[in-house]
Amino acid sequence: EKGGFDWFMRKEIFEQPKAIADTLLGRYSARGELVLDEIRISPETLRRIDKIVIIGCGTAHYAGMVAKYAIEHWVRIPCEVELASEFRYRDPIVNPQTLCVAISQSGETADTLQAIRHAREQGSHVIAICNTNGSTIPRESDAVIYTHAGPEIGVASTKGFTTQLVACYLLGLYLAQIRGMKYGDEIRDVMDELQQLPAKVQELLDHASTVYELAHQLADQEDYIFLGRHVGYPAALEGALKLKEIAYLHSEGFAAGELKHGPIAIINPDMPVFVIVPPQGRDQLHDKVVSNIQEVRARGARTIVLAEQGDEHVVQFADTVIGLPTVSTLLQPVLAVVPLQLFACEVATALGNDVDQPRNLAKSVTVE
Ligand code: BG6
Repeated sequence: EKGGFDWFMRKEIFEQPKAIADTLLGRYSARGELVLDEIRISPETLRRIDKIVIIGCGTAHYAGMVAKYAIEHWVRIPCEVELASEFRYRDPIVNPQTLCVAISQSGETADTLQAIRHAREQGSHVIAICNTNGSTIPRESDAVIYTHAGPEIGVASTKGFTTQLVACYLLGLYLAQIRGMKYGDEIRDVMDELQQLPAKVQELLDHASTVYELAHQLADQEDYIFLGRHVGYPAALEGALKLKEIAYLHSEGFAAGELKHGPIAIINPDMPVFVIVPPQGRDQLHDKVVSNIQEVRARGARTIVLAEQGDEHVVQFADTVIGLPTVSTLLQPVLAVVPLQLFACEVATALGNDVDQPRNLAKSVTVE
């Protein structure tokens, strides 16, 4: 049942090319249009939406953070991301012009369920992004975009996360399509890029042994830092969460730009710092993150840099470089997270932990 793998989690990491391809399947017409028939909220209603609130817990919440960047860029609707457990209890502003997007792999998380119940009571429309057919959250939503990742057994989410990202991109592009987007060509370009993701994820998986070697070199370390900026920030948070969940190690994700406002004080010599570098591009983001690598290196940190293949600028400041296939910035988390999943899985295995059933955690938490 584990298909020759030691853990369900490792098997699920390796299933990601297929899971992503299946999530895209049938959702793009030959005419270059997005088809999301499952969205049973009328285009008229969706055109009137003036705010989007994205709700989730844990990994799903990080997928929501990426979604905010993508949706605001493509659709130009203000988008908030909120932890489901915080949402209901702070008297949030939601009304019939609000679209609530609930992200949940299991579809049974009590915090998320209570949050959408509250949103619907206020007249808000709810779209679920979910991996489990017929589960409670989709049943209580107006519409659902299913991620077709197949059952996820490992408690730490992997293919659940990357397919949530894909579903969020699809939702963003769909909203852009029906609201008439000024970047019409961009929809097609992004769809083309999405179709190429399975092959690029596969390329990263083909080099898993490099990440495993790194895991064995670092397995005696007890504190880890993950840095990223823009959508690399939630990817960094997700890398840190994987290590907490299954390796029980102290790991923190920070927005790289915040480093100088506090976190740099905790850098010790030899501390492993993973840095996700945005693709080299038009803006200055890339160069700023490269400066952050220099800054932590200067304090003796061991730098593990995830950067676009062929990015010459990072080499001199990196103890280890993990090359990522070329992709546009907004889609980069789908690739960046894969080596981080492999790393956490291998460290946890080396430490002798039960990777699929980590202590103190449950796959779906059905109490608030
Ligand atoms: C947690 C799980 O309790 O719930 C996490 O341990 C998961 O892995 C989170 O990300 C949210 O779960 P779901 O099913 O709502 O996506």
